Amino acid sequence: MPVPSDRAATSEYSRSARVLPLVYTGVALAAAQLPPLFPPRFPGMVAPTWYATAVVTGVLAMVVWARPTTRRSAVLCLGWLQAVLTLGNAFVVGGGMAMFCTWLSIPVLALLAGRIGVKARKALLATHVITSAAWLGLGVMFVAMSVVAWTTTEIETARVTYELMVVFDIALLPIANFAASLAGIGLGLTTPWGLMRYYWVAIKFFIPPVILLMAFAFLHSTLESAAEQAARLAETGRTVAQIDTAADVVFWGFGLAMLLLLVAMLLSLYKPGGKTRRGQRLAAPRRPHASRARGNRMVLDV
Ligand code: HEM
Repeated sequence: MPVPSDRAATSEYSRSARVLPLVYTGVALAAAQLPPLFPPRFPGMVAPTWYATAVVTGVLAMVVWARPTTRRSAVLCLGWLQAVLTLGNAFVVGGGMAMFCTWLSIPVLALLAGRIGVKARKALLATHVITSAAWLGLGVMFVAMSVVAWTTTEIETARVTYELMVVFDIALLPIANFAASLAGIGLGLTTPWGLMRYYWVAIKFFIPPVILLMAFAFLHSTLESAAEQAARLAETGRTVAQIDTAADVVFWGFGLAMLLLLVAMLLSLYKPGGKTRRGQRLAAPRRPHASRARGNRMVLDV
């Protein structure tokens, strides 16, 4: 399906592009004061990285509010810098809060970038499709492993399967979730699809956070408890039948996550539902006095 056509471009930054760096500056300053959500890999680097992020987003906010005609390349440099700092904080330093803040940082960059060229869009789309497909593949693998662990009569097989699932659950699933959703958000904000303009995109937008919420709320802890029970039973020479309800919770939990990913995949391919009310409103022709062209920058909104 071709990308829908966009309405006439104007030059100023959208309200979202101006407000989001301000919001993120506040969030970064607050995050520097708060204790980490999870034990970081480099604890001494969490606060300095947050302060550096706050400085960059603060400068960015000043530029887009006070000097909106600043060269696009300079603004984008700052945009990339805050994105790299946030991604580094999240996935290298290990700051748990930064992981969630990537959902703010990437929109900041995408809104500043505006409409991207065909080549850049193809690269972003390829990243999104590859990471989404990898995530769905991991989902299928997790369901298969939970079936093996649940139905096996060998306690050793159950133990090894749950231990592998615990490791993959920490090492692979969050990366797949963030990579697919961030590339998706980047695509939405840099193309006329937007995030809340079409039903198929708007529904997909909520699927990665819902899966992440399930993982943090109960799936990961249930998986760990099943692995512990299997290890204890294996040590004392008992049978797999004694693993309690954890086994079915693991199966149904990962099963539901896989179904949601399947829904996301089908929504992407069939693109049902058309435009949301917001999409229709934004597509309506603008009144002449509402468009204030200055320069050649494009206004983008969610
Ligand atoms: C935050 C969540 C997501 C957002 C905002 C999002 C957004 C988008 C957008 C805007 C496109 C159209 C790109 C274009 O044509 O330029 C797209 C394509 C696609 N998305 Fe997502 N997506 C998200 C999550 C997912 C997930 C979880 C999956 C699957 C597991 C997925 C699978 C796909 C696929 C396969 C395409 C290519 C469709 C095609 O080109 O026909 N997306 N997504």
